[in-house]
Amino acid sequence: MTLDHLPPELTRTHRCGELRTNNDGARVVAMGWVARRRDLGSLIFIDLRDRTGLLQVVFNEETQPQVHARAEELRSEYVVAVEGTIIRRKPETVNASIATGEVELVAERLLILNDARTPPFPLDEDASVAEDTRLRFRFVDLRRQRMQSNIELRHRVNQETRRVMTEQGFLEIETPVLTRSTPEGARDYLVPSRVQQGSFYALPQSPQLFKQLLMISGFDRYFQIVRCFRDEDLRADRQPEFTQLDVEMSFPQFETIFEVIERLMERLWAVSGYKLARPFPRMSYDEALARYGTDKPDLRLPPMHSVRDFFTEADRQKLGIDSTLPFVAFVVPGCGGLSRKERDEFRQFGAERGLKVFDDLRGIEKHYPAAAQSIRGAVTPKEADLVLLAGAPAGEAGPATDPAAVRIRSAVILTAAGALRLFAGQKYASRHGLLKPDDFRFLWVLDFPMLEWDEQEKRYAAMHHPFTSPTDETLEKLESDPGAVRAKAYDIVLNGTEIGGGSIRIHRKDVQSRVFRALGMSEEQARQRFGFFLDALEYGTPPHGGIALGLDRIVAIMAMEASIREVIAFPKTARAVDLMCEAPTPVSPAQLKELGLQLRKDLS
Ligand code: AMO
Repeated sequence: MTLDHLPPELTRTHRCGELRTNNDGARVVAMGWVARRRDLGSLIFIDLRDRTGLLQVVFNEETQPQVHARAEELRSEYVVAVEGTIIRRKPETVNASIATGEVELVAERLLILNDARTPPFPLDEDASVAEDTRLRFRFVDLRRQRMQSNIELRHRVNQETRRVMTEQGFLEIETPVLTRSTPEGARDYLVPSRVQQGSFYALPQSPQLFKQLLMISGFDRYFQIVRCFRDEDLRADRQPEFTQLDVEMSFPQFETIFEVIERLMERLWAVSGYKLARPFPRMSYDEALARYGTDKPDLRLPPMHSVRDFFTEADRQKLGIDSTLPFVAFVVPGCGGLSRKERDEFRQFGAERGLKVFDDLRGIEKHYPAAAQSIRGAVTPKEADLVLLAGAPAGEAGPATDPAAVRIRSAVILTAAGALRLFAGQKYASRHGLLKPDDFRFLWVLDFPMLEWDEQEKRYAAMHHPFTSPTDETLEKLESDPGAVRAKAYDIVLNGTEIGGGSIRIHRKDVQSRVFRALGMSEEQARQRFGFFLDALEYGTPPHGGIALGLDRIVAIMAMEASIREVIAFPKTARAVDLMCEAPTPVSPAQLKELGLQLRKDLS
């Protein structure tokens, strides 16, 4: 029999995880879920669980036969209230693995507040359960200790964020969710309007334009913990709706922004008990690409070094390497002893990405002793390390000569080499104490190109977004050599993940119009999409800039989780589906009609 309501006289006195030896002798009422039941005949033990932890409850047949009899009904995840007395456990029965392990609650009264179906999977930590099952029963999955502590960590990060931003003079201001398209490079989620049939709101990919408008409105410093929506291909660190800590400020120098964000990071990591070294290192985009093959370097692994000039032209020909393209070397720590087969995997990985990989520095030494010596000087391998060399195989058509083609192909080769560096590192580094999840290596990446050539669309696209300011030195090239224009943009990277990005904005209408033109947008198209914003720029816009941080990613890295889904209470799958409430769903014909919509027959 279960109860429909709590009896009025029964008030919870403590939460399970709070009880300690100083509560010895106290009468308490605890409530929670049955995590585990052990029936030893005359004694029944349960682990009672609530958000704060576990408490052992004991039912004694001798002293409380009726209560003991009721306890026989208990099953996993039943919801109960227990009234009784806290006693110290005998030394030999102390459980050092839980915080309440020195005490137990001797039950004198037991109320079964609710029964429960058998959980779809065991809730103890070591059980490995298919993620789809966890997501379908997320309300149960969230009871697991790991999820409880991840969600609590997220709460503490949110609270500290609000505190630190407020201390630094920022106002928290909300911006609309039903709005117009804000381009951040993804597809929009659209919401049909019933009142204006045929018109649609777009859910914001970010509050970018609103936060700039707030600077025009004189709010000086804005922040918001805000949901953003992007219809894009999903990965472990991408969700269709995710949370940004969005920041904008007026009259900033780069340093002003870096200082605000570094101070925030320092305080957020302190929430978890870590002390960060500041200032964070900085690196240009070009250097990140050359040394790490990516714009989000993981500094926990050794960088790449260019070794092209260590070889003569004739050497490179003999090696079958394209002389005009990058040729790099890097260390894979502790992997000198890998088998032929294991090394072949590196070559294979490289070959699939257009690389020619050499894994035998001794072999190179035999034929090119001077080059090998220089390589050793550059990458400084230890005895146990493996040195990998990667370049582009010489093409049949001979080396590329057109500078633009060389630039693009060089980036491809460096990116592939960077991927190999990570692949090898991730596969083996943890064995050698590298890539520790609690080794937090922050980095600012600066001096991004303003525009990126989009091969599919055959036009330039903004690398950050079209409101990012070009640098003063390169602005003049906007029309003549758009690929050479640099942006006043920066990313903040942590252990190979981009955790934030921002820029100093364009605050003059003429520059904004030139950038739209460089992006292939006519005056008319620009007016149609952003007319309200272009107008606003003419009403006294202060210089301004800001950043947005990916809060899900920050909490996931802090919690040492591989996926942001582990720190989101109700995430979606890689197909953007909520398996628990089964969204998205088809809607009724009546609803469609009301919105003035009709589904194509072949879709319905
Ligand atoms: P950006 O597009 O770089 O910049 O986004 C900022 C940060 O948000 C996180 N992020 C995501 N996290 C989870 N799932 C996603 N789908 C996702 N997309 C982005 C990343 C990223 O660094 N308005 C600009 C910021 C600015 O210029 O101030 C913006 O949105 O951590």
